[in-house]
Order: sequence, then structure tokens, then C-alpha cells
Amino acid sequence: MTNKQIVLAARPLGFPKDSDFKLIESPITNAGNGEILVQSIFVSVDPYMRGRMNDVKSYAAPVAIGGVMGGGAVGKVIQSNNAAFNEGDIVEGMFGWQEYAVSNGQGVRRIDPSLAPISTALGILGMPGLTAYFGLLEIGKPQSGETVVVSGAAGAVGSIVGQIAKIKGCRAVGIAGADDKVAYLTGELGFDAAFNYKTVDDYHAKLKELCPRGIDVYFDNVGGAITDAVFRLINTKARISICGQISQYNLENVELAPRLILTSLLVKQARAEGFLVFQFADRYPEALVQMAQWLNEGKLKYAEDIEEGIENTPRAFMAMLKGRNTGKQLVKVADL
Ligand SMILES: NC(=O)c1ccc[n+]([C@@H]2O[C@H](COP(=O)([O-])OP(=O)(O)OC[C@H]3O[C@@H](n4cnc5c(N)ncnc54)[C@H](OP(=O)(O)O)[C@@H]3O)[C@@H](O)[C@H]2O)c1
Repeated sequence: MTNKQIVLAARPLGFPKDSDFKLIESPITNAGNGEILVQSIFVSVDPYMRGRMNDVKSYAAPVAIGGVMGGGAVGKVIQSNNAAFNEGDIVEGMFGWQEYAVSNGQGVRRIDPSLAPISTALGILGMPGLTAYFGLLEIGKPQSGETVVVSGAAGAVGSIVGQIAKIKGCRAVGIAGADDKVAYLTGELGFDAAFNYKTVDDYHAKLKELCPRGIDVYFDNVGGAITDAVFRLINTKARISICGQISQYNLENVELAPRLILTSLLVKQARAEGFLVFQFADRYPEALVQMAQWLNEGKLKYAEDIEEGIENTPRAFMAMLKGRNTGKQLVKVADL
């Protein structure tokens, strides 16, 4: 039996390309003492992985050239020498872009397949869902009746942010990059309004129209010109939750923001705060209970875009960066 793996062949310059990745085959390693061998079923592709491809100091080490691309996956334990796991368990962990992974069990979570489809452990009941939950509720602190704007609104994180804002009694306004995404947000997810930033020229005018009472909370997934426009409309004591800056991840030259952003913060006595989801790690269990409850009550909905085959993982990753996905982008690499 061989393990198909996707390794980083070159550090991308600007937008990644096929030749930055390579498919290799190697023998499957057995689980050693205290270890488990996992066969992946769903592999996740996420925007943060773009940062890991650069040789720069960040909150996590970059992927080495020739190294297996890191990332979350859900799979089945097929060999266990670790008392915490049994063969047949469904687990989620950082198993990377490969079909089989050996793990010592640290950071690996057992998934109950009877609660929800196992793919949700990488989406709404996993890292993106937790990001939406804590980034909105703990950093954005929305109050009933307030207006919450979310960029990247039709993606894994953004689509949940708007729905939680609705649960909390807010007006939810989404910004996304396709007409069908806008229709999905307002038609299926219950957003009050949304617009397609690729067909609207004047973001400021559009936001002013859709947010007649100004913006109290901004959940920023994208940065760039969209964020500049939002800042011009924030209310006094607004909260800006800086989750991601995807419009900047593939730029070769850093974009300069208008200095107006800081003036808006000053004049509106507002607060902008960045966060990384794992700063809330000790509170994941309580959030997952709440998210699962909302899901079962039909208050939260989710979408998944599923590519097939480990060899197509780079393609799925690049498609996600281009905005081809609605909801969580996954790659299915085996059957359950
Ligand atoms: N802080 C944390 O701990 C944390 C954790 C998870 C994720 N994040 C961040 O959250 C954001 C969303 O992540 P996700 O996993 O939910 O991804 P996602 O939204 O499912 O997928 C990325 C989306 O970004 C949009 N996009 C791409 N280029 C863009 C551009 N130039 N301008 C505006 N939008 C663009 C695309 O949608 P459109 O069609 O709308 O363009 C695409 O679908 C990312 O910035 C990510 O880095 C942060």
C-alpha cells in the first residue's frame, strides 16, 4: 500500500500555480508506540495555507520545500497503539495533504459520526465555525438591533458569521464575489442584504444604501478596498473583528491602506482587534455544543464544495483562493 502525498515543490510568487506542488508516492508507515495510523476521508484547504508557503516568520513555521502540505483532515483510525483511540474511530487532526498519516494523538479529536456528517468537523463544527463564533461574539460583541457587516460572506467562516449575527438579533449584511453567492446569502441563509463586490464599483455608496443606520460590527475576512469602504461608515463605538485579509495573501507588493482608517477609529472611538481562533482553544467545547444545537435546531445552515481525489487538492486550494467555493471547500480522498 502506498501513500499519495502533496508536497510543496516551490514557494509561490504571487498567486500559486500547479508547479508549486508535486504529487509523490511513498510507502505507508505503520503506527509506532503510542501512535495511530489514520486514513483520511476529507482533507481541508484553507486560506491560511497560503501564508505557510512563504518563507517568513509567522505564528506557525512555514512548510519546507519538499515537505507535505500541512492542514486539517478527517479520517478513520486504521491502526492504533494509543489507548485513547480505537481502530474504526473517526478523528479530526492536522493530518496534512495526504491519504494516510501517523500521529501521536496530540491535537486529535474524536468525532461522533451520529451527530452530523463527518465533513462538518472541518467546517461548521470545526475550525471555521469556531472562528466565526469567537471572532463575532468575543471580538465583535454584537448587540441586538445592531448592523453587522461581514466580508468573504459566502465562505466557510463568513457564511456562519452572518447567521450567528441573525441569531443575535442583528441586521446582517454580506459582501461576496458572485451573484449566486449573494442570492444564497439573502435567499437561503437569511442575511438581510448582500452585494457582489465584483459588479459594484462604489462600495461606499452600496454599503451606505444597505446599512442605513451605519455599521456597528465589521467582521473582516478580506481587507483591501472593501475594508477601506466599511471603515468610512462605522458608528461610534463600533467593533472591527479582523479575522483575515485574503485580498492581500497573493500580492507580491504590499498594498498601502488609506490613512483614513485610523482617523475613523479615532473619531468613532472604535476598536479594531485581530484574533487567531486558537487563542480560544480552551473554550472550543462550549462553542461546539452551542453550534451543534443551532445546527440541529435549523438556525444554522452550511454549504460544502467537495473536490475528489488527493491529486486535486492543489487545484481545490487555488479554486478556493479564486472564490469558486460557496461554503467550505473540501477534498474527498476516500469513502467512509
Ligand atoms: N483568524 C483566524 O483564526 C482565522 C481562521 C480561519 C480563517 N481565517 C480567515 O478567514 C477568511 C475566510 O476563510 P475561510 O476559510 O472561510 O475561506 P472561504 O471564505 O471559504 O474562502 C475564501 C474566499 O475568499 C474570497 N476572496 C478571495 N480573494 C478575494 C479578494 N481579493 N477580495 C475579497 N474576497 C476574496 C473568495 O470569495 P469571493 O467569491 O467572495 O471573492 C473565497 O471564496 C480568510 O481570510 C482566512 O484567512 C482566519
